[in-house]
Amino acid sequence: AAAPVTVTVTGAAGQIGYALLFRIASGAMLGPEVPVKLNLLEVPQAVHAAEGTVLELLDCAFELVAGIDVYDNPAHAFDGASLALLVGAKPRGPGMERADLLAANGGIFSVQGRAINDGAADDIKVVVVGNPANTNALITAAHAPDIPASRFTALTRLDHDRAVAQLAARTGTGVSAVRKLAIWGNHSATQYPDISHATVDGRPATELVEQDWIRDEFIPRVAKRGAEVIAVRGGSSAASAANAALEHMRLWVQGTPEGDWTSMAVPSDGSYGVPEGVVSSFPVTTSGGSYKIVPGLEISDFSRSRIDASVTELQEERDGVRALGLI
Ligand code: NAI
Repeated sequence: AAAPVTVTVTGAAGQIGYALLFRIASGAMLGPEVPVKLNLLEVPQAVHAAEGTVLELLDCAFELVAGIDVYDNPAHAFDGASLALLVGAKPRGPGMERADLLAANGGIFSVQGRAINDGAADDIKVVVVGNPANTNALITAAHAPDIPASRFTALTRLDHDRAVAQLAARTGTGVSAVRKLAIWGNHSATQYPDISHATVDGRPATELVEQDWIRDEFIPRVAKRGAEVIAVRGGSSAASAANAALEHMRLWVQGTPEGDWTSMAVPSDGSYGVPEGVVSSFPVTTSGGSYKIVPGLEISDFSRSRIDASVTELQEERDGVRALGLI
C-alpha cells in the first residue's frame, strides 16, 4: 500500500471543515489508492468541537484514513504535511475596521507560515480558503522563506465553478460542455469572471451569449454569489466552498484535463501585467504536481480594465499588510 499523505486542515471545527473532512477522508481529493493522515488545527476553544467531528470521522470507518489528530499548536499540525488547506480565519466582526481584520488574520497566517516553513514536507502545497484569501496567502508565503512562494495559493475555484454553472444554465447545456473559463484577480467582488476564451460544446461562448448579459448579469452574479447564498440559505457557502477547495487540490495533484484549465490565485510571475508577487487569480494548467499560468491569451480592452481593477485592490491589500509590518 502507498504511504499515507499528511493533510493539514485548519478551521476543522468550522462549517467548511465539516463539509470538507469527510470527503477528503473518503478519497475524493487524492483518489481511492492514497491513504491520508489528517492533522486538524483549531483554536484552543474549538478543539473540543473538532474532536466531536473526529468521532464522526471514525464512525464512517473510512478505509483510507491512516490516523487523525487534533492540535491547537500550528508547529505540531503542520509537521510533515504535504498538503495544507488553510480554512480557519478571523471573520470581520461588527464595527471592525479593515486594518483590524488584516491585522487579526496577519497574526494567524504569519504563525502558520512559519510553522509550515519549519515543519512541512518538501513537497508542501498550500491553499488558503480563509478570507481575505489572496492576501492571507501572501502573508503565509512571506513567513516561509525556505519554501518556494509558488507553493502558496488561494482559492478561486469556487468562483470558477459558480461561473461554469451560470454559463451552462444560460446556454442550456451541461456543465461538462463548458471549458476554458477563467477567474482573474481577487476573491472578492472585484474579481473578473472571464468567458472570452471559453467554449461551450466547442463553440466560442461569446457567440452564444450577449455582451450585455456578460456585463450586467453574469459578472455581478458570480462576483456576488457569496452574498446571494447568505441571503437565501441564511448561512455562508460551506459545502460548495469545501468542494472547490478539494477540487483545487485534486487538480493541482492530479493535473487538469487536456484542453481545459482551472482558476487558481497564485503569486504572479509578472504575467498579464500583474505585478510580480501579488497573489492573483489566473487561468492555470496543472501537471505533475505543478501549475503553469496559461500563456499568450489575448486580452481585450474590457478584460484589461476588469483585471486591472481587481489587481489594484490586491495591491492596496498588499500595501495595507506591508504598512502593518506583516510582510
Ligand atoms: P467558520 O467560522 O464556520 O469556521 C472557521 C473555523 O476556523 C472556526 O472553527 C474557528 O475556530 C477556526 N479558526 C479561527 N482561527 C483559527 C486559527 N488561528 N487556527 C485554526 N483554526 C482557526 O467559517 P467557515 O464558514 O468554515 O469559513 C472559513 C473561512 O473561509 C472564512 O474566512 C470564509 O470567509 C472563507 N471562505 C472562503 C471562500 C473562498 O472561496 N475563498 C468561500 C467561502 C468561505
